[in-house]
Parts: sequence; C-alpha cells; structure tokens
Amino acid sequence: MDYKKYIAEKVNVEGVSKEELYDLIALPPNLEMGDYALPCFKFAKVLRKSPVMIAESLKDEIPTDDVISEVSAVNGYLNFKINKDGFVRATLEKILTEKDSFGSSNEGEGKTVCIDYSSINIAKPFHIGHLSTTVLGGALYRIYNFLGYKAVGINHLGDYGTQFGKLISAYKRWGDKETIEKGGIRALNELYVKFHQEAEEHPEYDDEARAYFKKIEQGDEECLALFHWFKDLTLKDVQKIYDMLDIHFDSYAGESFYSDKMQPVVDELRAKNLLVESRGAQVVDLEEYNMPPCIILKSDGSSLYATRDMAAAMYRKDVYDFYKCLYVVAYQQNLHFKQFFKVLDMMGKDWAKDLVHVAYGMVSLEEGTMSTRKGNVVFLEDVIKKCIEKAYKIIDEKNPNLENKEEVAQKVGVGAVIFGALYNNKIKDIVFSYDKVLNFDGETSVYVQYTCARAKSVLSKGGVPASYEIPALCTQEIELVKAIATLPETVQAAAEKYEPSLIARFAVDVAQKFNKFYFDCKILAAEDEQTKNFRLALTNATLQALNNAFALLGIGIPDKM
Ligand code: ARG
Repeated sequence: MDYKKYIAEKVNVEGVSKEELYDLIALPPNLEMGDYALPCFKFAKVLRKSPVMIAESLKDEIPTDDVISEVSAVNGYLNFKINKDGFVRATLEKILTEKDSFGSSNEGEGKTVCIDYSSINIAKPFHIGHLSTTVLGGALYRIYNFLGYKAVGINHLGDYGTQFGKLISAYKRWGDKETIEKGGIRALNELYVKFHQEAEEHPEYDDEARAYFKKIEQGDEECLALFHWFKDLTLKDVQKIYDMLDIHFDSYAGESFYSDKMQPVVDELRAKNLLVESRGAQVVDLEEYNMPPCIILKSDGSSLYATRDMAAAMYRKDVYDFYKCLYVVAYQQNLHFKQFFKVLDMMGKDWAKDLVHVAYGMVSLEEGTMSTRKGNVVFLEDVIKKCIEKAYKIIDEKNPNLENKEEVAQKVGVGAVIFGALYNNKIKDIVFSYDKVLNFDGETSVYVQYTCARAKSVLSKGGVPASYEIPALCTQEIELVKAIATLPETVQAAAEKYEPSLIARFAVDVAQKFNKFYFDCKILAAEDEQTKNFRLALTNATLQALNNAFALLGIGIPDKM
C-alpha cells in the first residue's frame, strides 16, 4: 500500500494538485511525531494564511480511519500516524503469499523492450570497461521481465570492419592454429597488437588487411571461415564470464548481420532528400540541431557504425515491434546515439522517441586506469577471479570450518563485482577497489549476503511459524517493515529510471534495518511466544524481500557463511 498516496487523497488544498501533495509528503525528521509529514509552508502564499494556521485547519478536516490513526499539526507541519498493525499485517501477508514474485507486476504485459547490452567486440579483450554494460543490461533485462514486459537481450557484436582483415593478415603471417585455439581472445589480441606494431614499418600490411576485409564482404570462403572461427573463439571465451554473471541473450545479431540491410536505409535517406555530399562522403546535416553531420557512407562507399546502427534499429522495430529499445552504452558514445536517433526522427520514424541511450560512467581499477590500446588491459575475467580468491581468503579466516567454501566464495566474489558496478548511480565514474567491494561491514553485497545467512540461521533454529499475531510493535520492527514494503515501488522506479542501483540500495537499507532489529530485539529469546512467532515471520519476509532484490541483480545468496 502506498501510504503517501492514501494521505494525498485525503488532503485537500485549494490550487494544489494531488501529485504536488504526494511529492511534498515525506518522513518527519523525528519519528515520534508521526510516520509521514506534510510541510504546509509552500501553501502560505496561495492561501494567504500562515503555515501554522493552514496545518491547524487541515488537521480538523481529515478524519481518522483504519489507515490513518492520528493527525496532528505542529509548527506548520501536518503529521500523520499510520495504523501500524494493519500495515504490518498487510505487508507480511503480501510478501509471504507472493514469495518469489513479491515486487513483480504485470504493468508491461504485451510490451516488448529490446535491451542492447554488453555488445562486445570480436577478437578484442573483454575488459573491465565492459563490466557496467553487462551487469546493468543484465539487471534491466531481469527487471523488465519481472514487471511483465517481454525483454529481448541483444548482444550487438562488434564484428565488422577492417580489423578483421588485419587479423587475417596477421594470422596468416605469424599465427598458428593451436596457439589461437588454446589462447582464445588473448591470443587473437596479441596478433592484433603485433599487426599494429609491424604495420608501422610495413604500410603495405594495411593494404593487404583492407583487401582481406573486402574478401570477407564478398563472401570469400577461406576468409569467411577464418572470420567465423575468430568469432566462435571469442564467443566461447566470453561465455565463461556470462555464465559466472548469469547473463543471457536472445540475439547475437551484430554489426555484420546488417551488412546486407544498409542499402534500404541509404535509399530511404536519399528518397527523403536527407543525404548531402560532404568531401566525397554522404552525410546527414545536423547543424540545425547543433550537432556535427552524421556520416552515412564514406567516400569509398563503405558504411559506418551509425549506418549499421540505423539498420539495426529499423530491423528491431520490424521484428520485435518494441515499446522501447535501450542501448546500455558508455557516455562516451552520447553524440553517436543523439545523432542517429535524430536522423531516424528526421526520416519520420515516430518510434525514434522510443530509443533510449542508457549511458553510464567509466570504471577504472584502483591501481590506475586501463586502456585498450596500450598493453595494460585489465581482463574482466581476471578481476572476477581475483575477487573470488580474495573472498575465499576472508571466508577461510572468518569461518575455517564452513562447508562448501569454494561455492560460497564464488557467490561472494562474483556478487562483489556485480554489486560494485551497480551500487552507484550509473552515470558516475567508479574506481573499483577489491577491499571496498569485499568489506563485510560496508554498503556491499557481502554485507547483505551475510545478513541473509544470519536470517537463515535464525529461521533454521526457530522454524517458520505457520501463523502469527501482531504483538505490540517496537520501532525497529516498524522501520524494517516499512523498508521491505517498498520493493514493488523500488523495482518500478528502477525500470523507469533505468537505474538498478535503486534495488542495490534497497537491499543495503533493508539489511541495515534487519541488523538493527536483530541486535536490539530478541528473536529466538523473545519475551513471549506471540512476539517470537511474529519476529520469525518478519525475519522470513525480510529474507524473501532481499532474495528477490538480489535475484534481480543476478547475485546469489549462500545458505551459510
Ligand atoms: N561494440 C561497441 C563498443 O564496444 C558497443 C556497441 C553498442 N551498441 C550499439 N548498438 N551501438 O563500443
């Protein structure tokens, strides 16, 4: 139940909308005063009365009922007390009956959301820079499905361009099958780096590379076979990481998939008089929108990243008839998305407004930033493995007799990497620190996981009560119930704002409140049976809420830690 909404409905202030009232209602600084407060200061001008008088007169107009148990006016604030028994009973009942679907809804029924995420480049390292797009996209994918949408996960592979000609040239000159099979992406990347070094002295290698790329495009059997082999090797390599992170795709249609779907785009642009020539290239002028031109065809007639993205957007609209199409891509590409979204809009595609660039910030490692061009690439796989190792060490120290230490370390380590990337507002740049993400007392996944293990241990000792009554409630219990009750609105907001961090923050908040409850109130040694049963039920509901939140983020919860 949304109490703010309920209260907003009951209050009537001339000239102020229900939405405005809703936004003004907040938690009072002092919880003794009430559960919600409406500051009346903003109404003074309109009503030409002092806030104190406004609060006083509003108070008399609002009847108490099953939900609102008390209304008071204090210093220009209108304070509300909620009937806690009813609220607590309703919340626990909802969670314990809905179980794994608590927080879900069917708001998205019949709507498809395409999510372009991870979108790796073939034969290039899967480095820490891909962490955010992969876990953010993965979380959005689960969140939309949870809200009843049909999510379509798309890995828009970077599998097009002269770099594949370069790879073929390098492979033929220096490569051998066995090394590449064994080394996967790393071996391919080494070939690629070597090519660049050598080509500085031998510019003719670049011509050769271009010729090989042309051969791929023309369907030359040998070149195509090599290209597919590079692609398969890359996908096999990254699949290991996707498995660890619980990431799934419905389509791997990458850039090369659109090589035969770009001509219609060019034709349509030309027919709509949108193409102009600029230094031999075909471009769409965007000066009117304060952007540089969007290049569609180079002077040699070859296509660009934007051309392929336009073909992809049109294809997706055709095939999936999306309600929205999200691109989870770093903010460095802001201009690219703004440009081709605009061009589609100029072509009269009314659905261009449904394309959303979900931009996120940079991730760097504490030791120093990484770069793809130089040799100091940080492979995501190495980061995850190191996190699992470190988690193992900590667990082994804390609880040497724990069973399945490896399995627990895996959940803790992987969870730490995911949570580290998801905890902050996505647009912020983050500095990844192993110590920080693995801090048992921080705002971390391991803190939440540890809290869950604590709750599980309590339940395994006390059992899950078949029924319970609401006893006299203490503040810690009420605060905890208020927190867990917000999961549905949190999930909804996360989808609306493309911000899974809201769910991560929900989990930390709930865990903190559970721990406060756990330490301040006795659960198993409660003063009477009724209180004990209720507290066990509350523990169970808390665990369920945390479980659902973590499932959406793709993080597992160990039974014991
Ligand atoms: N492969 C690109 C890169 O690594 C990201 C592709 C994002 N998706 C898209 N439709 N442009 O930069």
